[in-house]
Amino acid sequence: MAASSSFKFLLADFASDSPFIPSNYIRPAGDRPELDGVENSGEAIPVIDLSGLNGPHRHKVVTEIGMACKNAGFFKVKKHGIPKEVLHRMLDASKAFFLLPESVRLKNYSDDPTKSTRLSTSFNIATEKLPSWRDYLRLHCHPIEAFINEWPSQPPSFKPAAADYASHVRRLALRLLSAISESLSLKSGYLESALGRHAQHMAINYYPQCPQPELTYGLPAHKDPNVITILMQDGVTGLQVMRDGKWVAVEAEAGELVVNVGDQLQVLSNGRYTSVLHRAVVNKDIERLSVPTFYCPGPETVVEAAEELVDEEHPRLYKKFTYGDYSEKFWKGGLRMESCLDLFRESE
Ligand code: OGA
Ligand code: NI
Repeated sequence: MAASSSFKFLLADFASDSPFIPSNYIRPAGDRPELDGVENSGEAIPVIDLSGLNGPHRHKVVTEIGMACKNAGFFKVKKHGIPKEVLHRMLDASKAFFLLPESVRLKNYSDDPTKSTRLSTSFNIATEKLPSWRDYLRLHCHPIEAFINEWPSQPPSFKPAAADYASHVRRLALRLLSAISESLSLKSGYLESALGRHAQHMAINYYPQCPQPELTYGLPAHKDPNVITILMQDGVTGLQVMRDGKWVAVEAEAGELVVNVGDQLQVLSNGRYTSVLHRAVVNKDIERLSVPTFYCPGPETVVEAAEELVDEEHPRLYKKFTYGDYSEKFWKGGLRMESCLDLFRESE
């Protein structure tokens, strides 16, 4: 047994039975979740049935997706083609990973955001002042063969479950990208080819029970830097989305996945679709697990608005940049209300 006084890297290993959170986790008044005032999202975050995408009603589904991207930046999908067993196996293997003994989990620990496989805590613990109530495992998932050897080898169910889930999510991401392209009146394959060499990153967010959830966040308000995010949740709610200036709570219906517009889609669509603020809150009663997939361009891909979406009425909003440059700024900046995109605005 390691000495119990040794330094703890991960929240799960020092979050104790104390009725108080450690003082360095306490957010200042004015930067707290105010959980009582948050209503459920209801119709504001629509549920879209994707079974119609491959048939004569494709256009209707494409229109629904386009409206949701434009109005909410968030939607849920059902009948998305990923079998329930694949979702369950991924959630079970992820839970099993976070239940491993500390010494086994720590083999994967790193606070270097450039590493392609790593277990860490909060957001960017090396640079931020106020930590958040989260541990997370991040994996690069495409192409799987290039990364699977780095993935955790414990529990034994992890690699096969994550590989299977990642390849299903990639197929879903590609179907969504073609529907989103069409909804912008672009060629079906536009976004797929605009991403260059695709990349797919997955996070497994583990939010331990929190004795004082009103004083901290699982993840503070932020916008996702990638193109689209596809989120699986374990049935425990915690995701909140900014809608008309108010936070709304998104239900975590089993089998449904949540999709959101990221910063790169805002750039590629020249602002037709916007990346929306969201956050994760924690709770007293139960731990929570969520698995976002961040679908992105390769780091060398130059990202810019589609020519078809730039005209006199819609001048180009952002300067060209490479996605590698963008993500570096995102990780260094820390999670905050202001979008990292502000750094790339075209001057008036
Ligand atoms: C994220 C995120 C929300 C959640 O990981 O970027 O927004 O519900 N997660 O865990
Ligand atoms: Ni996010």
